[in-house]
Amino acid sequence: MNEVKKRSVGIIGIGSHVPEKVLTNKDLEAIVETSDEWIVDRTGIRERRIADQETATSDLAYQAALKALADAKVSADEIDLVIVATATPDMFFPSTACLVQNRIGATKAAAFDLAAGCSGFAYGLVVGTQFVQNGTYKKVLVIGAETLSKILDWTDRNTCVLFGDGAGAVVLGEVEEGYGILGVELGADGSGGDLLKMPAGGSRMPASAQTVADRLHYVHMSGNDVFKFAVKVMGEAAAKALEHAGLSSEDVDCLIPHQANIRIIQSAAKRLKMPMDKVMVNVDKYGNTSSASIPIALNEAVKSGKVKKNDVVVVVGFGAGLTWASCVLKWCGEDL
Ligand code: ACO
Repeated sequence: MNEVKKRSVGIIGIGSHVPEKVLTNKDLEAIVETSDEWIVDRTGIRERRIADQETATSDLAYQAALKALADAKVSADEIDLVIVATATPDMFFPSTACLVQNRIGATKAAAFDLAAGCSGFAYGLVVGTQFVQNGTYKKVLVIGAETLSKILDWTDRNTCVLFGDGAGAVVLGEVEEGYGILGVELGADGSGGDLLKMPAGGSRMPASAQTVADRLHYVHMSGNDVFKFAVKVMGEAAAKALEHAGLSSEDVDCLIPHQANIRIIQSAAKRLKMPMDKVMVNVDKYGNTSSASIPIALNEAVKSGKVKKNDVVVVVGFGAGLTWASCVLKWCGEDL
């Protein structure tokens, strides 16, 4: 039997958006017992962006989506599906994807949220790709958007210094053969779920005066355990995605890792035997923006010329769940 030929699928437009307000490590020194020196030394973060009280995740997602659509030269009514990867939706329901679908006017698009922690955007890329690859849809909008600042305990120095807000979006569509997504790797280990969670507010522990008093509506994290997991899984996931693409780390022009901690990024690069000049780093400017970190970093890499047409790009993320995800792409955009 003849195998059905799969379409090549790639990123045909990209954009990102971060709130204007900058919170520096110095600013944090006035909020919790910490120091600029400790934060820079242990994480590489110097500042992060924080959304104002009126701004929700869908507002950042909307702005990023508009930029990605303009970059792709695609109008909202051409979009067939909107996927929003987020751990900080505007509310449980409707989904943030539906809010964005309505606001951009993607009237014929299906829409859903995807929950895979900081790996969410890379998961979304893989999910969105399937629809275009098999011919179900032509254009899919994948967004990673977060307002982690809204669920941080600003009295807990172990977590509040690490995260920031932002959004990144891409339009997926059919590309020339040989370009686009070449190999993927997704994974999960639910046994590590307790290491990183927001305990209350769901059906296990509905919101009550007690859960609020016990500060259970915030990010709770066992930082050291997550660190060990991340160091191991980042290199492994990227290596597997490369293997699926029939490539090795020597073929990679740019690594776009989830921006959580410079030490995790450096150790992933080391495991992949990749020099740091091939690695995109902007954790210093934005902190960990969870599912938004990879599209924000990829957008900056593309717009600054660090990623060019024909480059082999590897994106790799890890996050709550625990989850991990990696995609290998041959960049199909225009040469700058
Ligand atoms: N300022 C000063 N001291 C601090 C701070 C701070 N902001 N935070 C922690 N410390 C202290 C700790 O209390 C501890 O003190 P103690 O020894 O007296 O108890 C000491 O610093 C060392 O703490 P460690 O946890 O051992 O420090 P470590 O080097 O592991 O760095 C960190 C901590 C930065 C959290 C690191 O473990 C990490 O980056 N982990 C991964 C976190 C991550 O990436 N999470 C996101 C996952 S993705 C998602 O889905 C959201």
